[in-house]
Amino acid sequence: MARITRREAVAAGLATVLSPALPAAFATTPSSPLKDHAAAKGILYGAAVQTSEVAANDDFTALVVAECACVVPETAMNWNLGLRGEMPGEEDFSDADIIMDFATKYGLAVRGHSLLWYQGTPPWFKALPDRASAEAAMVRFIKKMCARYRGRVFCWDVVNEPINLRDGRTDNLRRAAFLDQIGPEYFDLAHHIARAADPDALLVVNDYGIEYDTPEENKKRDALLRLLERMKKLGTPVDAVGIQAHLRVGGYPFSQRKFRQFLADVAAMGLKIQITELDVTDEQTPPLVVVRDRLVADEYARFLDVVLDEPKVDMVITWGLSDRHSWINGEDDDRHVRPTDRQPYRPLPFDTVLARKPAWHAIARAFEAARPRPAAISLPGTGRRSP
Ligand code: G3I
Repeated sequence: MARITRREAVAAGLATVLSPALPAAFATTPSSPLKDHAAAKGILYGAAVQTSEVAANDDFTALVVAECACVVPETAMNWNLGLRGEMPGEEDFSDADIIMDFATKYGLAVRGHSLLWYQGTPPWFKALPDRASAEAAMVRFIKKMCARYRGRVFCWDVVNEPINLRDGRTDNLRRAAFLDQIGPEYFDLAHHIARAADPDALLVVNDYGIEYDTPEENKKRDALLRLLERMKKLGTPVDAVGIQAHLRVGGYPFSQRKFRQFLADVAAMGLKIQITELDVTDEQTPPLVVVRDRLVADEYARFLDVVLDEPKVDMVITWGLSDRHSWINGEDDDRHVRPTDRQPYRPLPFDTVLARKPAWHAIARAFEAARPRPAAISLPGTGRRSP
């Protein structure tokens, strides 16, 4: 059994004061990586990564290989940002391919994120003169992505974050360049094109702001269910729902009952459920690191303990792996800090020196407590659907 670091022991000791129910005993050794705790129950665990992080070939890169069975290109497949789609039909796949090659080398599965996203649309797309040229550009791009990564990307977020209640449409679709240029049919069309281009890839509807028990998030969960029902009725291909799960510490109500019902409703439609971008923002916490880490871990536990009770949930992806690299902390010249104490956030399972945090233990324990389920994919990275 691996030794727990002094830091972890201190955190765990304080944790018993702050949260007496934890920690529970592990059936597997605490030294097993998260991917093993997950795989023992048929769950795929992975993390979002940036190209620079895997190309660095440093201690963090090694940690990704050790802990993850799956990686998600955090921005490398973003049409505008990662693929630098500066001209129609001219994408630069080099950043995405670095992650693909890394995954192939280490036998990791790859989630495709994402084919279309309102925040990742090249400016030229928005300027296309008519519906026909916009539809042609969208179809061409989806076909190109699905064909290029066929057999290597096992599932795709087809339209990332398709719903926005604030746009006030009766279909609840988000106002985005695709919708403005093509019309609401773009959504179903995108799914059909993706299915035809790679019939083996799972197609996912991925969205955020559907986790908590607030009036807005309750309505958005309902809107997502209505969208899925409509897709089923129209015969629009869809295999899974992606729940991003960007969670927050600080008094956000979570209804076990409502969330279990939501998961059951999705499962009853014959869909799989993936947790796709899990992290916990610790903005509303006191300055003491051990307390912050405990509260973050408790939020992971509160969510995962309920979510993993639903056997259709077969994948948990954290949006990053260590606090060294998190979108919540920003990058280089755009670093973000907590407004209260100017400290960086601590949202992920490992800290900046790659030590396991209480959050890591909360995730591992949630996997340990989960019932076994059919494996998410039969062989990582082969693109095969589960039996
Ligand atoms: O590549 C440049 C780099 O050259 C420059 O030095 C740096 C300075 O800030 O910016 C870098 O690009 C940034 C990029 O992340 C890579 O770090 C962009 O400015 C920044 O906007 C971009 O943010 C990403 C964001 O999506 C927008 O694409 C985050 O990393 C990424 O975590 C975030 O992920 C989204 C999911 O795709 C969808 N769900 C929500 C989630 C969080 O916003």
